[in-house]
Amino acid sequence: MSSTHSQNVERAREIIRGKIGGLQPKIAVILGSGLGGLADKIKSAITISYQELPGFPVLTIAGHAGEIVAGKLNGVDILAFKGRQHFYETNDSYPLKTMVRTMKAAGIETLFLSNAAGSLQAHIKVGELMVITDHINYMGFNPLVGPNDHDFGPRFPPLGDAWDPALNQKLKAVAKKNGISLHEGIYVAFRGPSFETPAEIRMAQKMGGDAVGMSSVPDCIIARHCGLKVVGCSCITNMGAGLSAERLSHEHTLENAKRGAVSFEKLVFEFVAS
Ligand code: HPA
Repeated sequence: MSSTHSQNVERAREIIRGKIGGLQPKIAVILGSGLGGLADKIKSAITISYQELPGFPVLTIAGHAGEIVAGKLNGVDILAFKGRQHFYETNDSYPLKTMVRTMKAAGIETLFLSNAAGSLQAHIKVGELMVITDHINYMGFNPLVGPNDHDFGPRFPPLGDAWDPALNQKLKAVAKKNGISLHEGIYVAFRGPSFETPAEIRMAQKMGGDAVGMSSVPDCIIARHCGLKVVGCSCITNMGAGLSAERLSHEHTLENAKRGAVSFEKLVFEFVAS
């Protein structure tokens, strides 16, 4: 598995590099549910389907296109990954590992993660954004379980600065300068695919969480393992189960992601060039 995995990463790197020509992107962004619109702001865009890349995820969820858009965002070379795989889709972490490690192999240094999330705090409202300062992995799962791929990183990677403190500060400064309301907080990852129960939401609050979701934490762990810096932002699409009268559904998530998408796009647009 491991050597096939390394070969997939190398082959995917070659294909991407071959297609993006003179671009030298140092930043990549993974666009979460309903946040793919940022890719439309990329100039001179080159699109690469995940299907062309060996070992890449095959996506099954509405709102996740499954393609890389390479080009210039606000004058800066970037790779935007429209969609990623969640663990509830396959139980297999290799496609996500291939995707993130290919970024590293292709010269990426910083990974910007985004997701749709439920709020655990009354002051963090639907349609608002939250910079992720830390996470709680409540997925009952770690994507690095299994033989360590030493080619990519150490057996026991530290996560003391998983969400890069300097980049968090930078994101907050960019938000302030551009008048974008940006909360900060801790993201609690559940495995899904069911939404949480009200009791689980109360537990997540007591654990110190500020938002809940089903993604980004595996991406962050894989990225930190291979030495990428990570910064991330949640787009709040709902209050956690039981905190409001709304009935949760994926359609509801996608619909409400539109409310935060405009600020999110502006935030990333300004961040990459700052
Ligand atoms: N829980 C888990 N994942 C989510 C939520 C939620 O409330 N909202 C959007 N993604």
